[in-house]
Amino acid sequence: MGKGMHCRKCGNAAVINMRQHRLALCEAHFVEWMRANTQRFIEKYRMFGPEDRVLVAVSGGKDSLALWDILLALGYRADGLYLGLGIDGSIGYSDESHQRAERFARDFWPDATLHVLDIKGTYGEAIPEVNRRTHRGRGKPCSVCGLIKRHEMNRIAYELGYNVLATGHNLDDEVAVLWSNTLHWQIGYLARQAPVLPADRPGFARKVKPLCRFYEREMAAYALVRGIDYIYDECPFAKGATNLYYKELLNQLEKDQPGAKLDFYLSFLRAKEQGAFTESPDTADLHPCERCGQPTSAPGLCAFCRLWVEQVVENDDPNVVIVEQHDA
Ligand code: AMP
Ligand code: FES
Ligand code: ZN
Ligand code: ZN
Repeated sequence: MGKGMHCRKCGNAAVINMRQHRLALCEAHFVEWMRANTQRFIEKYRMFGPEDRVLVAVSGGKDSLALWDILLALGYRADGLYLGLGIDGSIGYSDESHQRAERFARDFWPDATLHVLDIKGTYGEAIPEVNRRTHRGRGKPCSVCGLIKRHEMNRIAYELGYNVLATGHNLDDEVAVLWSNTLHWQIGYLARQAPVLPADRPGFARKVKPLCRFYEREMAAYALVRGIDYIYDECPFAKGATNLYYKELLNQLEKDQPGAKLDFYLSFLRAKEQGAFTESPDTADLHPCERCGQPTSAPGLCAFCRLWVEQVVENDDPNVVIVEQHDA
């Protein structure tokens, strides 16, 4: 990192050189720069103010722990939420990430609150088990996992009275999704991909991504400089995901054209501002789920609630799926 380079602000040895910004900074000035820019993005996209109650979804990874650290350092009212997904793999992924989140809270911000929700403890089954029972996602549990995480983050924010829900998505994450949405011209997804999403319904939390303009490399450097111990490994199910393949492609592009990712993302946001993608009208059909009250377009129960009341039973005829009802 920035060997032989000097901080632009003070002339001391630089710890990072950000080619796309033509900016090298020392430890102290880099931390200051990251926090000041986060504050700038929060204001620019009207994410939240000092009076808002922010729930930060922390996974134990560098992005979300760094986000929580930055928000607390900026003086926001920010608590954490860790969701125990029950994913083991060879590294005990969920246990390891839970430990990192707990340790961070204890060592860095002992006065902050970390809420922990264990999916298995609450619903009786961990993510891989739900996936196996419902046969959704055919093998990999990622789509079931995403569904459960979104629902539970919304629910906890609502029940505990947080009006803002913040996730640690960084620029590399956003650009990989944007790339995928653009490749397939998913107009509906493109219309909804944004640094801020308004609350689905009154009482629900606004969703914000304060790190959406920071490169993954900048997030890793921030965590390193701050001494945050985070889980390096991806979820064991992420291996081979298309998303990771797109990230590699985009890294190649960035290497040849520093700033290409940021430019792609910012041009997209500008195009949206100019009305390039308008919200698709089908969102008007949303109504509250009969069981949990969260907005859904499905009749009766939302996709999350259906996961728990439907029992898909194996049978010999591949064309018949027997669905049993039972109380969750
Ligand atoms: P991912 O979907 O793993 O790329 O994570 C995106 C964001 O979702 C993270 O930056 C976190 O803010 C949040 N997140 C992911 N996993 C968890 C978890 N187990 N508990 C709480 N938040 C999570
Ligand atoms: Fe959910 Fe990997 S399947 S984090
Ligand atoms: Zn400096
Ligand atoms: Zn529901």
